[in-house]
Amino acid sequence: MKIVVIQGPNLNMLGIREQHIYGPMKLEQIHQQMKKFADENGIDIEFFQSNLEGEIVDKIQECLGDADGIIINPAAYSHTSIAIRDAISAVRLPVIEVHLSNIHAREEFRKHSITAEVCASVIAGAGPFGYHLAMIAMGQIFNEIKAHKEAQKRA
Ligand code: DQA
Repeated sequence: MKIVVIQGPNLNMLGIREQHIYGPMKLEQIHQQMKKFADENGIDIEFFQSNLEGEIVDKIQECLGDADGIIINPAAYSHTSIAIRDAISAVRLPVIEVHLSNIHAREEFRKHSITAEVCASVIAGAGPFGYHLAMIAMGQIFNEIKAHKEAQKRA
């Protein structure tokens, strides 16, 4: 099973930007922890970060036929990008959206995520641990897909 982790704009600045909101951890540290969990659980994992909307769309499209699931933090694009939302819908893979902060407890414009509406699951406000929770949730989604396929074979 392969998971691709896609990180949106300004997440390369974690550890520097607004530490009172996003905490002190750098993106590389979050990815190291995720890699450790993936290795321990036999999951293939790839990391991608971009500040550019089109590059994120390209990466989501590339996941088709290459990945079994996507964990994405579209960052500010969550609130604006119809293109990223359409790419998520197009690939029809299980996608889990993660936000470090609780977007529902922040400014009005952050409370709505147009990308989350087409995701299987959303985790917000758990800090870097949200990515860990997303990996556990993805494992559960993979198990459910497998069980469903097996049931279809038996029918
Ligand atoms: C964020 C929340 C977004 O509103 C913001 O633009 C980000 C980070 C989060 O992880 O909490 O860049 O996605």
